Amino acid sequence: MHGITPPSRGLLRVLTCGSVDDGKSTLIGRLLYDCQLIMEDTLAALARDSRKHGTLGEEVDLALLVDGLEAEREQGITIDVAYRFFSTPQRSFIVADCPGHEQYTRNMATGASNSELAIILVDARKGLLTQTRRHSYICSLLGIRHVVLAVNKIDLVDFDRDVFDRIVGEYATFAAGLGFRTMVPIPTSGRFGDNVTRRSDRTPWYRGPTLLEHLETVSVEEDTTLIPFRFPVQWVNRPHQDFRGFSGTVVSGSVAVGESVVVAASGVQSHIARILGPDGDQERATAGEAVTLCLTDEVDVSRGDILAPTADRPAVADQFAAHLLWMDEEPMLPGRQYMMRIGHLWTRASVTAIKHRIDVTTLDQQPATRLAMNEIAFCNFATAQRVAFDPYAQNRLTGSFILVDRFTNRTVGCGMIAFPLRRASNIHREAFLVDKAARAAALGQKPMLLWFTGLSGSGKSTVAKLVEQALHRAGRHTYSLDGDNLRHGLNRDLGFTEQDRVENIRRAGEVAKLMLDAGLIVLAAFISPFRAERRMLREMFEEGEFVEIFVDTPLEVCMQRDAKGLYARALRGEIANFTGISSPYEPPEAPDLVLDGDGATAEELARQVLELVERRQAG
Ligand code: ADX
Repeated sequence: MHGITPPSRGLLRVLTCGSVDDGKSTLIGRLLYDCQLIMEDTLAALARDSRKHGTLGEEVDLALLVDGLEAEREQGITIDVAYRFFSTPQRSFIVADCPGHEQYTRNMATGASNSELAIILVDARKGLLTQTRRHSYICSLLGIRHVVLAVNKIDLVDFDRDVFDRIVGEYATFAAGLGFRTMVPIPTSGRFGDNVTRRSDRTPWYRGPTLLEHLETVSVEEDTTLIPFRFPVQWVNRPHQDFRGFSGTVVSGSVAVGESVVVAASGVQSHIARILGPDGDQERATAGEAVTLCLTDEVDVSRGDILAPTADRPAVADQFAAHLLWMDEEPMLPGRQYMMRIGHLWTRASVTAIKHRIDVTTLDQQPATRLAMNEIAFCNFATAQRVAFDPYAQNRLTGSFILVDRFTNRTVGCGMIAFPLRRASNIHREAFLVDKAARAAALGQKPMLLWFTGLSGSGKSTVAKLVEQALHRAGRHTYSLDGDNLRHGLNRDLGFTEQDRVENIRRAGEVAKLMLDAGLIVLAAFISPFRAERRMLREMFEEGEFVEIFVDTPLEVCMQRDAKGLYARALRGEIANFTGISSPYEPPEAPDLVLDGDGATAEELARQVLELVERRQAG
């Protein structure tokens, strides 16, 4: 092992990416091996393992050094991000090793988001592959500004300079638009060590640095003094009445006692009164330090707020444009709500428009209506709450977010913010002199939304009609919204794909909201097959206003009734995406009322609804 002299250059975080089989693990193994970083006993174990699992016969298989996990060895592939730390007299390194399979793009993104340099491996025999382009693009998107193009297995093309030059030329053309500050191509052989730590005499035509030389000397420092101070508040520290501080980590820039700061979202200003670190009071805190800040004024600050210099604030908006990398098997549907975590803030968010999807192999921009796993798109977002952020290009920590599915809690996407949408800051809510309460009082009723959900032919519209008739006769002010009817007008442009149904329900919900604001009792009959959108509806309305009525009629019964002849046509394959046949229906888990659509007459079901309505009107 190398001695204890502190490295003269700082830590370098390196990401390795490449396709399956292009020798990534062997190359990294070689780097560690040649740096003599392997303990003797590890080497002995390696020699044993090589005979058991290796692909090289009696030769020590360096890939086994890196592919540490048993499962990986068995499969012969790398399956997770593995981090390795090593150090030379010049520098310390953290190497994140990302798998080459396409389905692991999300791991690759994880590794890329905190690396400064990427080693992009290319098999000299195969040249650039789809994965080479995909990984390079993701690296660029996630802010990596330095790459090494390791043209590996150069021994297998007889150290041919032309092969190397051709690959480098092709890569340079592709990468021209990716914003890399340095791109250093190196002909390497992980297996034999050429140009890894030792200059190879078999590539006399190559005059550049070895891989290790380059890693030890490349300068990746960004001018951190240019990045303004940002402090996302992790928690409000209030142990007793006399102390109130805000704890968190300075993610960029620095701050000193006495400086003027602003709470980004509210715009409220104050000054730094104290900075408390692990050793008590300190004058200044810089990026990376975990501290507690006290302000000179009693201002309202909560978890997720960002403290920033008054003169250099982040953007604050509830709409912005961002690149989104989708990582879930369930597609991303515009209009569907997800939880967004941005810094320490959680808020509901949805994509309002996919501006374009990016073909990561050609960088072409394509239209898209949804995103599948591993796809990347430039999208407009809307958040339930105003959020503070910086463009990702300026600050990777305050400019990125993740999306989490509201039901499975899986991380489904990660985003890099480009800019706030100006329209968001130009539109204000107009306050009227007459409000919902006044209108409702004039009509003598509580506004409500009776939302009927169920299969086509379950009886939603039939029951809703009877309920409306009875309410009307009793002097209530009502209106009916119906899936079939809305699709003739407002929703004429929508079909029955999942994304169109999401939008259909979103619009119906917005219209219903206006009608409740007008004081009406609204009856809405929509299949509304997805729980995500029904949950969104519930959250759009005040407590008690939204009444979810599940018309629970078995599919067989709906098919027998088939009043519109649609099931027969769907079964013949003439209608695509038909609910219950070729498109799912997710039954409500906790509806306000379940109607047994098979067990009672429509009149009886209507009576059950009316009872509930009258109870809520009276309560
Ligand atoms: S929803 O799924 O988006 O809520 P909505 O209630 O507006 O659907 O419309 C459903 C009605 O459209 C059905 O009652 C049926 O008459 C008609 N329809 C036509 N094609 C389909 C389809 N593929 N799936 C379901 N309903 C369809």
